[in-house]
Amino acid sequence: MSANAADIELARKSTLESVIQSGTLRVGLEAGYMPFEMTDQKGNIVGFDVDMVKEMAKAMGVKLEIINTAWDGIIPGLLSNKYDLIASGMTVNQERNLKVNFADPYIIVGQTALISKKYADEIKSWRDLNDPKYTITSKLGTTGEQAAKRLFPKATYKSFEMEDQAMLEAMNGKATATVYDLPMTSIFYAQHGEKAGMKFLNKPFTYEPLGWAINKGDPDFLNWLNNFLRQMKNDGRYDRIYNKWFGS
Ligand code: ARG
Repeated sequence: MSANAADIELARKSTLESVIQSGTLRVGLEAGYMPFEMTDQKGNIVGFDVDMVKEMAKAMGVKLEIINTAWDGIIPGLLSNKYDLIASGMTVNQERNLKVNFADPYIIVGQTALISKKYADEIKSWRDLNDPKYTITSKLGTTGEQAAKRLFPKATYKSFEMEDQAMLEAMNGKATATVYDLPMTSIFYAQHGEKAGMKFLNKPFTYEPLGWAINKGDPDFLNWLNNFLRQMKNDGRYDRIYNKWFGS
């Protein structure tokens, strides 16, 4: 085989084969996004995404390795083959989809807003946030950040490395509001926001399907993931995991 042909052969090999050969499925995620992936009191990474990929590894007959990675490097990490897929509550959007492939969405979420107590009376709808007198926070490199900049261009936007920091900023009144994915805002509101007098605008104002991301050019892996997801959704495993993390 010429070098060129060998390269083509290598390029054609599916991630499925290397996972089976190595005996380990490597999953990239960033812990901190409740209830999808977070660190428990014992230091274990747990959550909806984690339980889903545990089933995935089981179905492949391999071990699972979780690789906790900073959000802003999570796609580059996949492209440089640090892990086999990303399962990290990642919104399927067109910009990311230029770089990676996504399996079919496993849940639909959307952006919501938590308003600081100080502004709870004057802000009635998320649309009111587009005003120069307001400051809005979200997490660096997320669709929350993109939505805040796109929908509220007149407001000041302030970015944070971690979602809880962005939320605390609005809770303690240093910012007007924080914009983020519904499941996480809802948990934050129940745990801290309500007590702190925040207002929760809980009707999503964006459409965000979340999906597993894999490298492009791997139809075998994509086919496996989509069939696996359909099976999970219809044989009760998805519902069991969903109810565990989102309540029934
Ligand atoms: N859905 C949002 C996005 O894709 C936020 C995901 C954040 N995930 C995480 N594990 N921190 O941008």
